[in-house]
Amino acid sequence: MKILITGSNGLLAQKIISLAIKDKIDIIATSKGIDRSNNLNISYYRYFSLDITSEDQVRFAINKFSPDVVINTAAMTNVDLCEEMKEECDKINTNAVGFLANACLSINAHLIHISTDFIFDGENGPYSEDDSSNPLSYYGFSKLNSEILLKNHNVKSSILRTIILFGVGNNLSRNNIILWAKESLEKGQKLSIIDDHYRAPTFAEDLAAACLFAAKEKVYGVFNVSGKDIMSIYDMVVSVAEFFNLNTKMIERSHSSKLNQLAKRPIKTGFVLDKAINDLNYRPHSFLESLEIIKNQLTNKQI
Ligand SMILES: NC(=O)c1ccc[n+]([C@@H]2O[C@H](COP(=O)([O-])OP(=O)(O)OC[C@H]3O[C@@H](n4cnc5c(N)ncnc54)[C@H](OP(=O)(O)O)[C@@H]3O)[C@@H](O)[C@H]2O)c1
Repeated sequence: MKILITGSNGLLAQKIISLAIKDKIDIIATSKGIDRSNNLNISYYRYFSLDITSEDQVRFAINKFSPDVVINTAAMTNVDLCEEMKEECDKINTNAVGFLANACLSINAHLIHISTDFIFDGENGPYSEDDSSNPLSYYGFSKLNSEILLKNHNVKSSILRTIILFGVGNNLSRNNIILWAKESLEKGQKLSIIDDHYRAPTFAEDLAAACLFAAKEKVYGVFNVSGKDIMSIYDMVVSVAEFFNLNTKMIERSHSSKLNQLAKRPIKTGFVLDKAINDLNYRPHSFLESLEIIKNQLTNKQI
């Protein structure tokens, strides 16, 4: 089996690649710039530079490698930047998905695409796959448009929606809240964390396993795939502090109205996971089990 993955320098892609390499799946890793992974000397792994916003590059790469499955993890993931740079956001998060879908259809490949809880307005979380969408931010709107595009396309596709990804990666271009909180508290910094927004943080390894299952078993459709523990952002950070024996007194409660963020965020998301559990064999770790794995990875420098 051959998988081409986009955004391979990102957190989720790194986890999918590690699992796929263990399974001896032929991986073509692609990202916009140079390869920032440590995989270059590994068999089954090849790197190819690919900007998914170029229709020509997408068509060329997919024809050249002829993968069975394409997993699109590349995205403009900074929610406030998407609000500020709407055209750029459309190009990466929506239009490029159309290029990938066309190219996959032309070689009969399966396309797996990643979407977000931000397609919902947060009034009625946790959400099932069939609940009504109503994005509050341009990021959410662009991802919803990518879902609509795929639903109206003849390509064989799976959409896995997720929520706050966390985990340890190599040379990531952005941090995630768990590692950020841990690192900031270790430096003795005071943190002001909102307690009025609720999420189900997702361990990147768990989502990666679900993506790979969908790829191997060719499971099509929309799936909500997140962690199983829904908690406030404040409780998330306090749990991290307690787990790593850091000073919880450095964490003060705040409110979203104080943040002045450009993009609006949903108050409470979280997902109903039944479909993923049944159809994708999804078995998420609890939040604390994930922290235990991260602690071991950091101690043993195994990412
Ligand atoms: N992270 C979350 O909390 C979260 C929550 C919900 C949904 N998601 C979705 O989950 C997916 C994976 O997220 P992630 O956190 O793993 O993302 P990430 O770490 O931000 O990685 C995204 C990758 O996409 C690459 N990329 C950006 N523009 C590109 C382009 N034009 N062509 C090719 N590659 C490009 C980036 O390259 P550089 O590193 O070189 O910039 C980056 O490596 C995304 O679709 C995201 O929208 C994430």
